[in-house]
Amino acid sequence: MSNNPNEAAEADKLSGHQYDGIQEYDNPTPGWWNWLFVATVALAPVYLLVFHSPYQANTLAAQYDRAYAENLRLQFGEIGTLEPTQETLLEYMDDPKWSAVGAVTFKTHCITCHGPEGGGISGPNLTDNRYINVKKIEDIAGVVQNGAKAGAMPAWGNRLHPNEVVLVAAYVASLRGKNVPGGKPAEGNEIPAWPES
Ligand code: HEC
Repeated sequence: MSNNPNEAAEADKLSGHQYDGIQEYDNPTPGWWNWLFVATVALAPVYLLVFHSPYQANTLAAQYDRAYAENLRLQFGEIGTLEPTQETLLEYMDDPKWSAVGAVTFKTHCITCHGPEGGGISGPNLTDNRYINVKKIEDIAGVVQNGAKAGAMPAWGNRLHPNEVVLVAAYVASLRGKNVPGGKPAEGNEIPAWPES
């Protein structure tokens, strides 16, 4: 060390750590940088909930599905107005194109009560073999249209396009027997299998 005041000042800034003759300055990361880091950590769970939680209908994947279904709805002219009959429900249950509209309608309006996969939250499990208000496949469309249990299950007839009612009912029919893990215990009565289409 010399007596040069500049060098003394330089030495003050050193961390004291030395390796292979290389000395290190003691430059802590600035406060704003640390706070930025803390902010990213604090925001991460919020981001995860908003964009990736399967329990809400606004994830990026859901937004994409909605845009896709919206596009399909523009083509409703192709299928005319669907009637909620047994044949129509059976036909659209496995339709590769139109079942997407039913699935998205379900994700948008039904998962808050019936769960992302239909296993049930406040509403009943739709993936088992028992039903409270349904004896035949067409009853599903009736419950969706008119609601049940004094509005605990809301009526969707005045909020959805008639084709959406039919397509979401067909989607619900397709959930039968999937018995998704973590679903609510079955409620109601066991009913005969859906007829063959
Ligand atoms: C606010 C909560 C809520 C929402 C949202 C909701 N449901 Fe329901 N749903 C219920 C409840 C509660 C019942 C049970 C009614 C009963 O016990 O009679 C039910 C019953 C049903 C049933 C009859 C099940 C059975 O066992 O009889 C079907 C089918 C159904 N919902 C489909 C849907 C569809 C499709 C949507 C979206 C378009 C939807 N629900 C949205 C609460 C909800």
